[in-house]
Amino acid sequence: MMERPIVERTLRVGLRRRAYDIVIRRGALKESGKLLAEAFSDAKNIILITNTKVGPLYVEEVRAGIEWAGADVNVIDVPVGERYKSLKTAAKLYGRLLELGADRSSAIVALGGGVIGDLAGFVAATYMRGIPFAQIPTSLLAQVDSSVGGKTAVNHPQAKNIIGAFYQPKLVIIDPDVLTTLPPREFRAGLSEIIKYAFIAGGELAELIRAGLPFTDREALVPVIAECCAYKARIVEKDERDQGVRAVLNYGHTIGHAIEAVAGYQRYNHGEAIAVGMIGAALVGERMGLISSEEVRVHRELIRLAGLPESARRLDPKTVYEHLKLDKKRVGGRDRMVLLEGLGRPEVFDVQGELIREAIEAVVEGGA
Ligand code: NAD
Ligand code: GLY
Repeated sequence: MMERPIVERTLRVGLRRRAYDIVIRRGALKESGKLLAEAFSDAKNIILITNTKVGPLYVEEVRAGIEWAGADVNVIDVPVGERYKSLKTAAKLYGRLLELGADRSSAIVALGGGVIGDLAGFVAATYMRGIPFAQIPTSLLAQVDSSVGGKTAVNHPQAKNIIGAFYQPKLVIIDPDVLTTLPPREFRAGLSEIIKYAFIAGGELAELIRAGLPFTDREALVPVIAECCAYKARIVEKDERDQGVRAVLNYGHTIGHAIEAVAGYQRYNHGEAIAVGMIGAALVGERMGLISSEEVRVHRELIRLAGLPESARRLDPKTVYEHLKLDKKRVGGRDRMVLLEGLGRPEVFDVQGELIREAIEAVVEGGA
């Protein structure tokens, strides 16, 4: 049998006292015990938080590695689904941590997609005012986006991600081999965030992504995951607390979030809604004379290649626009959106409400 090439990259997120490594390596799960022992230095009690889908697939491999490295492991399973990213689940987790005698010499490891990463990170940030934490992201979306940068949160019935903390992990371990079990629709959701990086970073990364889509060759995905993490790390280093430039990571999210919410977080997953949102943002940019029709075509091409939707169906465009306006009110009023002044040149712009409304009408189709 042909030897599998070792593709490895370690990136550093340079945040002074909160700096950490992102280890990207096929087969890294097997080595997670050793890597975690180095990152946590003296943690003797490691609590693995996972869900009932990912746990049965990967928890034993991680557990064995941690035990081999000399620490005790306890596993806590959370049911599958965004609705468990809640204060109620967090309260249950605090209870389990207390039962297990977890203290500041313990550490939490999130093993799962973005839901588990955000929830476990929030619990780690708040339990005893903060205990060490690491991420082992298992979905593509989590590997290229949510596991890096320290945004942790739970949802409130009235708003997504509204209760949270900036809390950086001590380590992120990315094993692309776990993506083999990821359902195709979830894989495409991750591709949506990767395409977002193509638009906002432009240049060689955009070319790499365009050439590899839809990444049926998983080997070609490894350098892309690494480059996306590297791009995000550079942005987070400049603006850890999301006061300025970090906003560019939200390209496509203004209209996308509104679509996701109006569809009740059921019909469209995050990646699908963001794909439609990026087309909407491109159309706004074209109307403002910032990008050309050719650049809008590139948006459509990449999103189509990934098998993602270019429009959302059976939603009322007016309701989507009203939701977007409400959301804006909550965050301070003005109609502002991340737009491109050409591929690879994202910027936050004040936008006339009318242009956003027109773009929504172009990407959201009403009817049954
Ligand atoms: P998810 O965590 O719900 O995972 C998607 C599905 O795939 C789940 O059913 C999960 O159990 C399953 N799964 C994950 N890895 C698997 C694997 N290797 N094999 C088989 N099944 C697997 O969703 P997601 O897309 O990973 O993350 C979405 C969440 O991330 C949302 O809550 C969103 O708000 C959050 N998010 C956070 C940030 C951030 O910066 N913190 C950024 C983007 C998104
Ligand atoms: N996913 C957007 C951010 O981390 O800021």
